[in-house]
Amino acid sequence: MNPVIETDHVKKVYGETTAVDELTLRVREGTLFGLLGPNGSGKTTTIRVLTGQVRPDSGTAKVLGIDVASDPVGVRRQVGIIPEQETPPSFLTATEYLKFVGAIRKIPDIGERMAWWFDFLEFGDKKDVLCKDLSRGTRQKLMFAQAFIHRPVLALIDEPLINFDPIMQRVVKDFLVDYVRQGNTIFLSTHLLGVAEEICQEFAILHRGKLLHAGQVAEITATGRHLDDFFLGLVRKGE
Ligand SMILES: Nc1ncnc2c1ncn2[C@@H]1O[C@H](COP(=O)(O)OP(=O)(O)OP(=O)(O)O)[C@@H](O)[C@H]1O
Ligand SMILES: [Mg+2]
Repeated sequence: MNPVIETDHVKKVYGETTAVDELTLRVREGTLFGLLGPNGSGKTTTIRVLTGQVRPDSGTAKVLGIDVASDPVGVRRQVGIIPEQETPPSFLTATEYLKFVGAIRKIPDIGERMAWWFDFLEFGDKKDVLCKDLSRGTRQKLMFAQAFIHRPVLALIDEPLINFDPIMQRVVKDFLVDYVRQGNTIFLSTHLLGVAEEICQEFAILHRGKLLHAGQVAEITATGRHLDDFFLGLVRKGE
């Protein structure tokens, strides 16, 4: 299957810190891919490089066949993004925000799609509340809806589950698995290794910007190991 994400020796340096260090990675179409790694290991920077929000110092990144550095807008038009810890505009209501996204993305049936998301993530009762007055979890529902409302073939989502209660985590996990079954691709960063083990087919571990491991989740679990033991063993060895 075609790679939908391809990076070749991507490097991003901030002052003394090498946030991403010569990262070469491939993600095939139709995969639920988990990007794992300790705090500060470069997950968010990687996602920002892939979405054209950060320009790497060297190396190249291709997303859906597009060179990100030469056409970042072209990439963002096609993909869905949940940025790390970002919240919707405080001065808009949930409805206004999704209508705004619908206008930018030129979604003709935005009203119907919005209604579907309000219903699916169970926050229709908050649709006319200003985003500043929504709970963290409800804001995250809105961020989730905006990332998927145009039905992107690829979504890059940075720690999307952290503010959800167990019920909503289940709903969202099932959604992601089903979305990938339909042939789409999800690139997900997370600290929730149990979630990664449960839903991801492939994963990579970053440590201090470097790729420590990339492979199938089943390779680990088939030998009776869990992703968290594997992760801890590998990261401790790398220290
Ligand atoms: N805009 C920036 N300016 C300076 N340093 C940055 C910037 N963005 C990231 N860094 C540094 O780059 C490194 C990688 O950060 P990044 O946010 O990519 O890690 P992460 O794996 O997403 O961490 P976390 O799990 O805490 O979200 C860290 O040392 C961070 O301090
Ligand atoms: Mg991060």
